[in-house]
Amino acid sequence: MAFLARLSGALVVLTVFQCLCGAVSAEGVVGYERRQMRERSVGAGSKRATNTLATRDANNTALQFGSGVTRAANVTGGPEVQEVDFVDGLEFCLQSNQAMTFNVEIDNGINPGTLPDNTTALNSFSWVVTSSAPLTQVNAQMFVPFNRTKLVAMHPNGSSPSTMLMVYKRPLNATSGGFLPVNANQQIVRELPEDRIMVPLTQMDGRYTVLVTQARPVGGTGALKLSPIQILASRKAGRSLA
Ligand SMILES: *[C@@H]1O[C@H](CO)[C@@H](O)[C@H](O)[C@H]1NC(C)=O
Ligand SMILES: *[C@@H]1O[C@H](CO)[C@@H](O)[C@H](O)[C@H]1NC(C)=O
Ligand SMILES: *[C@@H]1O[C@H](CO)[C@@H](O)[C@H](O)[C@H]1NC(C)=O
Ligand SMILES: *[C@@H]1O[C@H](CO)[C@@H](O)[C@H](O)[C@H]1NC(C)=O
Ligand SMILES: *[C@@H]1O[C@H](CO)[C@@H](O)[C@H](O)[C@H]1NC(C)=O
Ligand SMILES: *[C@@H]1O[C@H](CO)[C@@H](O)[C@H](O)[C@H]1NC(C)=O
Repeated sequence: MAFLARLSGALVVLTVFQCLCGAVSAEGVVGYERRQMRERSVGAGSKRATNTLATRDANNTALQFGSGVTRAANVTGGPEVQEVDFVDGLEFCLQSNQAMTFNVEIDNGINPGTLPDNTTALNSFSWVVTSSAPLTQVNAQMFVPFNRTKLVAMHPNGSSPSTMLMVYKRPLNATSGGFLPVNANQQIVRELPEDRIMVPLTQMDGRYTVLVTQARPVGGTGALKLSPIQILASRKAGRSLA
């Protein structure tokens, strides 16, 4: 009974969290269109004020990739969960006690020597996240978009190709060692129409990419393991998971 209560609590939390922080988006809808959709789906102004876990700072929406202060996401620091999203659908929902800025750059080309055995890179690029406070612990969810058409064109062997996707990370400035999975058993592939992988992060900095790996069982238990920010979200909503 207690377990069931916890389970349904977890599902409610996941749902609330995903509605507010991951409320997007049809494939291929970018920039302004995307923002408009979000205004409608998340709700603007008054609704936000009464009914949100995440602060949607308009300045941190549809950011361009690249370096420099004008392309930096500004994280204010404090108890609020902030949303930051980029033009391709890459998004962060994060809470950081310390103020920081971060940039995301696209780095083209992936050295095959940095990929683990039996994995293939979905994209020919990685997202390079560089923050002003690399050692700071954050409670964050990263939403990483994937291109389903491209995935299917690779003829992966699993019966459900999206279960083969996993976000991997390599430290910045790494001179040896390859990509490693980020919190492998807590990643959640969010299917059509969203097509993004949700990954909990405790630190921002790194080089991230999507790899095609071994198929995982569909509907595995991973989705029920709560990440720190999901727990945080539930506390903010006044729910107890204990
Ligand atoms: C958001 O942008 C406005 C206008 O560009 C600026 O005045 C304000 O300081 C910005 N807020 C943050 C948190 O960067
Ligand atoms: C972050 O803050 C800096 C300095 O205030 C500003 O120049 C920049 O435009 C801000 N970034 C965003 C995405 O609003
Ligand atoms: C890679 O795949 C081959 C063939 O299926 C298998 O023998 C090998 O153990 C796999 N290696 C890893 C690291 O999973
Ligand atoms: C997805 O991949 C397909 C096949 O590589 C490509 O034609 C299409 O433009 C890609 N879509 C986006 C949004 O990048
Ligand atoms: C599918 O399996 C075959 C045989 O095990 C292997 O040669 C091929 O590389 C696999 N395809 C992908 C996309 O992993
Ligand atoms: C990576 O190298 C750059 C330039 O050499 C440096 O500014 C940055 O602090 C380094 N980052 C880390 C995490 O070591």
